[in-house]
Amino acid sequence: MSTLLPILPPSDLLENNDALSPAAQKAEEEKNAMRKYFQKPGSQSELTGHADQEPVCLYLETTNRCNLLCVTCPRTYEQLEPEADMPWEMFTSLIDQYPNIARVVLHGIGEPMLVKDIAQRVKYLKDRNIYVLFNTNGTLLNDANGRALIEAGLDELRVSLDAAESEVYQMVRGKDFFAKIVQNVKNFTKLQRELNAPKPRVSLWLTGLRETVDQLPNFVRLAHEVGVTEVYLQRLVFFDEGSNGLARAESALFEHTTEREEALIKEAEDVAVELGIMFSASGAVDPGESIRMQRNDSPWSLCRRPWSLMYITANGRVLPCCIAPFSMKGYGSFTLGEATQHSLREIWNGPEYVRFREGLLTSAPPPACANCGLRWSL
Ligand SMILES: C[S@@+](CC[C@H](N)C(=O)[O-])C[C@H]1O[C@@H](n2cnc3c(N)ncnc32)[C@H](O)[C@@H]1O
Ligand code: SF4
Ligand code: SF4
Repeated sequence: MSTLLPILPPSDLLENNDALSPAAQKAEEEKNAMRKYFQKPGSQSELTGHADQEPVCLYLETTNRCNLLCVTCPRTYEQLEPEADMPWEMFTSLIDQYPNIARVVLHGIGEPMLVKDIAQRVKYLKDRNIYVLFNTNGTLLNDANGRALIEAGLDELRVSLDAAESEVYQMVRGKDFFAKIVQNVKNFTKLQRELNAPKPRVSLWLTGLRETVDQLPNFVRLAHEVGVTEVYLQRLVFFDEGSNGLARAESALFEHTTEREEALIKEAEDVAVELGIMFSASGAVDPGESIRMQRNDSPWSLCRRPWSLMYITANGRVLPCCIAPFSMKGYGSFTLGEATQHSLREIWNGPEYVRFREGLLTSAPPPACANCGLRWSL
C-alpha cells in the first residue's frame, strides 16, 4: 500500500514534450500558460484574510439542472438549491463587474449544455477575450450544439466519461448513455477536423474510483479512437459523512493506492505515451511541483482558491471554490455572499470571505476545507 499520491504525468512527457502529438503538445503549453493565473498570490505568511488582488477566475454555475444521476455527485442525492438556470441578466452583470477577468468556467453542479443559450454565453465571454471552458457530460453534444460552440469560440471542452465501457459507465453515471456520448465526441472531433477548428481543446475525464481504475488503459485507447488527445484522472472528492453512492473515502483512489492500482495507472501512462496522448492527474500545480508534493497533515494550507477565484451558483450564491460543494453537505457553512444583494467586489473582501480566508490560514480550517487536498481540477 502506498499513501503517496502517485498519479503523475508520465515522466517521459515531462522531459520530452516531443513524445506528444502536436495537438497534445499545444494543449500542454496552453495549460501551463493558464496555470500562471493561479500562481500563489503570496506565501502563507504573507497572506491575510484580505485579498489584495482581484479574482482571476469566475466559476458561473449556468444551471443546476442535470439529466444524469452520477453516484459520485452530490446533486444526485440532495437538492442543494432551487432548480434554476442562471438568468442571462445575472450572467452578464457578473461578467460586467469583472470585464478583465482572465478565465470563466461555465459549469457548477449541473449540466451546462442543458442551458439553451450556452453558446451565446460563450460568445459574450469571447467578445471580451476571456478564456472559457466547461465540463459536460456529453449527452447533448450533437452536431448543432457542437457547431454553435465552435463558432462561439469555446476554448476548452472537458467531457466527463468516467468509463471505457457501457456497463461501468452506467454504474457510475446512473444512465445508459455511453454509446451515445462516445459517438457524440467522435463526431465532434471529426467536425473540428473538417472545419479546421483547433478550438475547443477536447479532453476526456475519469473520476478516480477504486471501482473503475481498471478502466484506465482502455479509457486512454478510447480517447485515441475518438480523436481526443488529452485524458485526465480526476481526484474524487468525497463527503465527510460518507455513505452517498461512491463519493466515499473507501472508493477514493488517491487515499491508498495498491500495487495493482499503481500498475494499472502505469499501464495507462504507457498506452498514452505510445499513442501520443497527454495523460495527467488534474491538478492545480505544474507537473514538477506535483511530483514533489506529498500528502501532508494540512493540505488545505496550500490552497489559494479563495484568493484567486469566485464561484457563483445559478441562484447567485457566492462560494469559495468548486470543490466545497463536493466535500461537505449543504452550502450553509461556506456561503460567502449573495450576488443578488451585493456587488462581487463588496463580497470579495466582505466579512464572510475575509473570515473564510482567515480560517484557511489556521490549523482549524472551515469544515469544507478540512479534508481537502490541493490537486483538484481547475
Ligand atoms: C459536477 S460536474 C458538472 C459538469 C457536468 N455535468 C459533468 O458531469 O461534466 C463537474 C465534474 O465533477 C466531476 N465529479 C462528479 N462527482 C465528483 C466527485 N465526487 N469528485 C470529483 N469530481 C466529481 C464530474 O465527473 C465532472 O467532471
Ligand atoms: S457529475 Fe455532472 S452529469 Fe453527473 S449528476 Fe453531477 S452534474 Fe450531472
Ligand atoms: S474546499 Fe478545498 S479547494 Fe475549496 S477553498 Fe477549501 S481547501 Fe480550497
